[in-house]
Amino acid sequence: MSKAQAANLRIQQLVQELRAHDYRYYVLDDPTISDQQYDALYRELGELEREHPQWRLPDSPTARVGGKPRSALRTLKHHSRMISLDNTYSQTELLEFMRRVEQGLHSGSEVEYCLEPKLDGGSVEILYRDGQLAGGTTRGDGESGEDIIDNLRTIRSLPLTIEDKRPLTLRAEVVIYRRDLEAINEERAEQGEAPFANPRNAASGSLRMLDPRIVAKRRLRAFIYQVLEGPSIAPTHAATLDYVATLGLPTHGKHRVCKDSKELEAALNELNALRAEYPYEIDGAVVKVNAFAQQQILGETAKFPRWAIAYKFGAERAETRVMDIIVQVGRTGALTPVAVLEPVPLAGTTVSRASLHNADHIETLDIRLGDRVVIEKAGEIIPQVVSVDTQARSGEPRRFVMPTRCPVCDTPVEKRGEEVALRCPNPACPAVIKGAIFHFSRRFAMDIDQLGFVLIEQLVDQGLVRDVADLYELSVESLSKLERMADKSARNVVSAIAASKERTFDRLLTGLGIEHIGQVAAKQLAEEAHSLEAFLGWDEPTARTRVAGIAGFGPKMIESVAAYLTDHKSRALLQRLQAFGVSRAQPVHVGVEGPLSGNSVCVTGVLSKKREDVHELIRQAGGTVHDKVKQGTTYLLAGEKVGKAKTDAAKKVGAQVITEEQFEALRSGRVVASAGTLKK
Ligand code: IVH
Repeated sequence: MSKAQAANLRIQQLVQELRAHDYRYYVLDDPTISDQQYDALYRELGELEREHPQWRLPDSPTARVGGKPRSALRTLKHHSRMISLDNTYSQTELLEFMRRVEQGLHSGSEVEYCLEPKLDGGSVEILYRDGQLAGGTTRGDGESGEDIIDNLRTIRSLPLTIEDKRPLTLRAEVVIYRRDLEAINEERAEQGEAPFANPRNAASGSLRMLDPRIVAKRRLRAFIYQVLEGPSIAPTHAATLDYVATLGLPTHGKHRVCKDSKELEAALNELNALRAEYPYEIDGAVVKVNAFAQQQILGETAKFPRWAIAYKFGAERAETRVMDIIVQVGRTGALTPVAVLEPVPLAGTTVSRASLHNADHIETLDIRLGDRVVIEKAGEIIPQVVSVDTQARSGEPRRFVMPTRCPVCDTPVEKRGEEVALRCPNPACPAVIKGAIFHFSRRFAMDIDQLGFVLIEQLVDQGLVRDVADLYELSVESLSKLERMADKSARNVVSAIAASKERTFDRLLTGLGIEHIGQVAAKQLAEEAHSLEAFLGWDEPTARTRVAGIAGFGPKMIESVAAYLTDHKSRALLQRLQAFGVSRAQPVHVGVEGPLSGNSVCVTGVLSKKREDVHELIRQAGGTVHDKVKQGTTYLLAGEKVGKAKTDAAKKVGAQVITEEQFEALRSGRVVASAGTLKK
């Protein structure tokens, strides 16, 4: 087998493997490889595709993110009207619904119901045509919605191609898992944006974003709950869902066929009981008449189908008492009041704390010490206080006042500009240091699992660690001096810290907690800079220009990176980390996706722009740059006064010679670039 044939086979194998891993991760929620292993396979595929663009498959996972951010989403008419469901909160009304169904059908007919979870996200219409993921819209006003196909393509649980070539029009709910929302919210908090109150807002907000590259990082998942061509596939709704699942399409897989109200009630109770265990939010159940023939007889009213109803679970609430209000200081110095509650069971967990956000929030709700309060968990990760029972007060309970000095280091607190939050401005505040080290060690950053918060507290309190670089100087000896630290644990901690040196540069950037630079931004920044060494090499003007060119980086982010890089303290920290060999091993892969993804361009001759600027444009459009024409070069961008040797070399390797004008058309996506051919 030639080298080229081997590459072709490997590409096919990788596409299949990655697809299978996507399915395991996003549909079965049961991955068999780590994120890093996945990334390695993905990179290998990307590299092979760049070398052999002619073998890039249309359903390659690398083809999920393409195109440029848009300035607006266009509106498209739905394939068929997206009506919503009548809903109820009571089982009595559910029985009434069943009676209405039975009356509406010929007397004596047997009715089966399909009970399934009502997922709480954003609803979408998805079209497969000719076996290809071909269209998608948000619900909009029910008649038409926004065209979000580019965003849907980034959802890795949705196959880009399926074997069944018949047209399929699907309804699905796009959701975010609770655990993924936590990461997104941390990111938002760092960027100074308000966190999403619940996974539903996060999912619908993400679906409508203008830049698919950012959507791709949100880990959205789609679950199909209705197939419009159902009747031509199978006689029942449940069988249709089962069928589309065999095509690799994601269904929630939690539907139950019930023969009577007793079975329905049992299934409903079971769903409610298991609710907290699902990784996504469900806000109720949907009960559907299972047979399409019966659905057709029942028809629909102006607003709702008569064959289905949503049974909603009420938001879970509990009553408890505020025993105390404490103030926590985070790694950014922000002071957050937290209610210490009498422990109470709620939605499957015991709750003993509720965030009170800030002083304004406490005042609005008028929460006082000792108050009886109602807390609620309705999709939010942290329970919220929703109301105060002022009637239950005896006398005039004490009001809570925010401290004027940091409760940890006693520095006077400050208010920054328009912000509501009070902050401790002392960078040496032990709470700030502990928070920063904890953040550094988190799973999504440097992933030092041996470094729990309790240990970090000890390390900082004993003066062994003052910043994240100090971690790399810890020895088994110094650690063993700590209370309750056995030799073996000390060795584990030291080796876990040493192992973190291998983390990629983007994780290091995340871990540093640069203001406004969260996980997603850190990844983009790392891709721009490639390595810690190169990053340190940026002077202020370079930092500003490079950062300004990154998609989605606004003035605050640019300012923050430039300030970080020029601050002598943070530079010294970076230099120490570099000296310890942190993030040296793996330069970051340039993973920008764009109109030139998978294409390698060589630039020659005199052009209207500076050579470096042209190189940058190529990279920004997802292409790679080479100084010499070689095997795998897809385009030779030839300016004026180009020597014949270059163009001959290009012809020899099958690269296409293009003018600056043609290059502009390719780069901007006006003409599709692929496999070295210009397609109009
Ligand atoms: S069936 C004609 N099934 O709830 C089909 N809807 O008001 C009507 N939803 O906007 C919808 N899970 O986005 C159906 N298993 C499920 C669902 C579901 C969530 C959403 C859907 C719709 C709303 C109904």
